[in-house]
Order: sequence, then C-alpha cells, then structure tokens
Amino acid sequence: MLEIFYTKQPVQSDAFIAKILGKYYNIPNPAICKSIHGKPYLQKGKICFNLTHSKGLTALAVGKHEVGFDCESLSGKPRPAVLGKFTEREKGEISSVQDFYRHWTARESYVKYLGEQLAALWRKVEFFGGKIYVRGEEAGVPVLQFDLDGYTFSICGGYTRYGITQV
Ligand SMILES: CC(C)(COP(=O)(O)OP(=O)(O)OC[C@H]1O[C@@H](n2cnc3c(N)ncnc32)[C@H](O)[C@@H]1OP(=O)(O)O)[C@@H](O)C(=O)NCCC(=O)NCCS
Repeated sequence: MLEIFYTKQPVQSDAFIAKILGKYYNIPNPAICKSIHGKPYLQKGKICFNLTHSKGLTALAVGKHEVGFDCESLSGKPRPAVLGKFTEREKGEISSVQDFYRHWTARESYVKYLGEQLAALWRKVEFFGGKIYVRGEEAGVPVLQFDLDGYTFSICGGYTRYGITQV
C-alpha cells in the first residue's frame, strides 16, 4: 500500500517530507540523505518515499519499498521538443494533452524510481501499452496512474494500491 499526501500550500520540499514523516509515521526530525543524483531517502528505517511538484502542488508518496513518483499539471500544452523525443509507437498512443502527460510522468516516475538523472535515461526509456521499456526490453516495474484535480500522477514501483490524503 502506498500513501500519497499532497498540498497546494507553498512548501519547501524537505520540510514537507519531514512534516509528513513526523506526523504520520512517527519519525520526528528525520535525517534526510540524498543519493548521488539527488533522490532523498532515510538511511535508517523501512520507509521509502518520493516527492514531486508541479504548478502549485506538492505531493509525497510513502511506502515500504522503493518508489518513483511524478506529477504534471494538465493545464499545460504538450511540448513539441519533448514529444519529438518519444518513440514512434509512443507517439501513436498520444492524441490528447492527458496522453502526453501520462507518458511523460510514467517515464519520469521510472527515472525517479531508479534515482537516476532524467538526461541520462530519457532516450533509453519508453512507456508503451502501460509498461516501461528500457532499450526495447520490458523493465518489469509496474506503473500506476491516476488523475486528481487537474493533475496527472504516475507511481513506479511494486504497488497495486494507494490512498490519497490532502494535508
Ligand atoms: C529528479 C528528476 C529526475 C525529475 O525532476 P522533476 O520532474 O523536474 O521534478 P519533480 O518535482 O517530479 O521531483 C523533484 C523532487 O524529486 C526528488 N528528487 C531529486 N532528485 C531525484 C532523483 N534523481 N531521483 C528521484 N527523486 C529525486 C526531490 O525530492 C526533488 O524535490 P526538490 O528538487 O524540491 O528537492 C530530474 O530533476 C533529474 O534528472 N535530476 C537529477 C539532476 C542531476 O543529477 N543533476 C546532476 C548535474 S547535471
């Protein structure tokens, strides 16, 4: 089970992580470490999390195993420069703003799941038929997607269920 906490109040990312972990997971003043590419994590404990923000919304996904989480506002327009980098079969699945951002966030959630750099993986990753592929091979990590309040979200990791709380 993955728990998602989101706010539309202005918040600083690490302060939001600390607030949620303190209030809902009984981890006061968590020591937040950063991986080499900037992915925040806790050195001790069994909690995994990942944060995302887009146009005034900040959201944190918290679970018991690794997670990559990404959101985008659906109020934007598809960006031709980004669309041009999708593969031909991905482009065949994109006929709306929602399709565009679903593909975008799915790819980003996989990169964030690995804690990698977007620039390093963007051209190797593909989201097609609801699955992530890396250099044409299935990655084998599921992606869950949902829309909420004008935003689209992708969760990458071995999760089948999620709950959402506005804070
Ligand atoms: C993180 C990344 C994959 C996606 O960013 P994005 O979609 O623009 O931003 P999101 O709002 O979804 O996520 C940002 C949050 O994810 C977390 N995060 C940061 N780096 C991360 C990474 N490599 N993997 C997973 N999560 C990461 C942080 O909590 C970050 O919040 P903060 O920037 O406010 O501290 C992208 O910024 C990236 O490639 N970062 C790596 C940068 C890097 O390595 N630079 C080295 C010099 S080029």
